[in-house]
Amino acid sequence: MLHKEYILLLGADQYLRERAFSGAKRATDIPVWAATEDAVRKLNRTFDNMLSADPRDAESLLSAIRAYSAQGWHPRVVVPLNDWTVDSANAVNRALGLGGLDADTVTNARNKYDMKQALVAAGVLTPRSRLVESEEELLEAVEAIGLPVVVKPYDFGGSGGVVLATTREEAVAGLAASKAVIAQYGSAFNILGDKYLVEQCVDSDDEVSVEVLCGAGRAEVLAVTEKYLSPRPWFAEVAHLVPSHRTGDAELTALAVRACAALGIDRGLAHVEIKFDADGTAWVIEVAARPGGDGIMDQVERAYGINPYWLHVGSYLGNDLLDVVAAAEPVRTSAIAFLKAEPGRIEEVLDGKPLPLEVRSINISAKPGDLSQAAKNWSTREGLIELEWDELFGEKTWLPVTTAKELSDQIFMIGAGETVGE
Ligand SMILES: Nc1ncnc2c1ncn2[C@@H]1O[C@H](COP(=O)(O)OP(=O)(O)OP(=O)(O)O)[C@@H](O)[C@H]1O
Ligand SMILES: [Mg+2]
Repeated sequence: MLHKEYILLLGADQYLRERAFSGAKRATDIPVWAATEDAVRKLNRTFDNMLSADPRDAESLLSAIRAYSAQGWHPRVVVPLNDWTVDSANAVNRALGLGGLDADTVTNARNKYDMKQALVAAGVLTPRSRLVESEEELLEAVEAIGLPVVVKPYDFGGSGGVVLATTREEAVAGLAASKAVIAQYGSAFNILGDKYLVEQCVDSDDEVSVEVLCGAGRAEVLAVTEKYLSPRPWFAEVAHLVPSHRTGDAELTALAVRACAALGIDRGLAHVEIKFDADGTAWVIEVAARPGGDGIMDQVERAYGINPYWLHVGSYLGNDLLDVVAAAEPVRTSAIAFLKAEPGRIEEVLDGKPLPLEVRSINISAKPGDLSQAAKNWSTREGLIELEWDELFGEKTWLPVTTAKELSDQIFMIGAGETVGE
């Protein structure tokens, strides 16, 4: 039987990951497939084919892949695009002898406690942390680490259940709030959420994420993204801007590269989150072994004129694109900012007014009747805007946040009277 090959993208068939298909097409001319649990009811025609399989589950993927193998179709490599598929994609790659990330690397990238140990072992500065399950362990950890602390699930994302505590009481309430977030979303994201991290708090809102293309023995920084956070005690991401004014900071980019090496990431794009304390010292908050989410890749593409998914998929295919990354220069600024209604019941959504010239796209997800809560994590957003400027900013600009706030106030009419609990 004829041996026919395809590349399988996992997590690519989701909102704000659409450009992954185009990037994969640039990286290879073989068919680009995706996977979804029910490919009959959820067929996405962008892809050349879809497997009926749970993209987060290696066994489910392997059985769908084997069914096609019987017809002569074989995956050349499986590429993860989000946190929920890093494990499954690489488990399939290893099972089929297609390469992929080492199993320990995957564990370190998905379990924030193991990640911290790997970073510390490599001498990468990261907040001290302890793993806890009960309130008693939590209070012991608070004692050992010292207030303020950050409490978070050890295996979730999207800032879900990440909360600041400045007192013992807030730590106890924070752990309960974090557990409530996991009770609501844990099964949908296929995570355990059975343990929580108590971390030393890097007390500032100065934060970036760094996209690093990793290779065996060499890695190059593609872009530094400036991150904007919600008011405390939560850490919801409210905007991302590329390129950050810190893009040329060699110490920062070297730290991001060292963090990837510490975890043993040797292929694909990695997303490194770094926070600066009051002295300007850079601390690694976390490292993800996949391209950044939240539409950051689309901002990188506009700012640099390079589709980052081309690099990610190309790297999984064994193409050396590190020199492309080393030569990349930003040509404009691009940002994504999330729309946020004031807390309360949304009575009306007034869209259709002329938008500022720099607004390149708007997507409103909230409907009349929805309840808006204060920004907590990805789930409390009412939509997004993307913005573009021809200039490169020399210092932090608040334009993404102020524009999103002005538009949110114009668009979302909140009813009087109803109060919303936290
Ligand atoms: N130890 C810490 N000190 C200060 N801020 C922290 C700390 N840990 C987390 N944060 C803040 O909370 C945010 C979310 O935390 P973290 O990245 O660990 O969780 P996450 O759910 O994986 O986030 P996301 O998926 O949004 O990147 C960070 O980007 C940072 O702003
Ligand atoms: Mg994070």
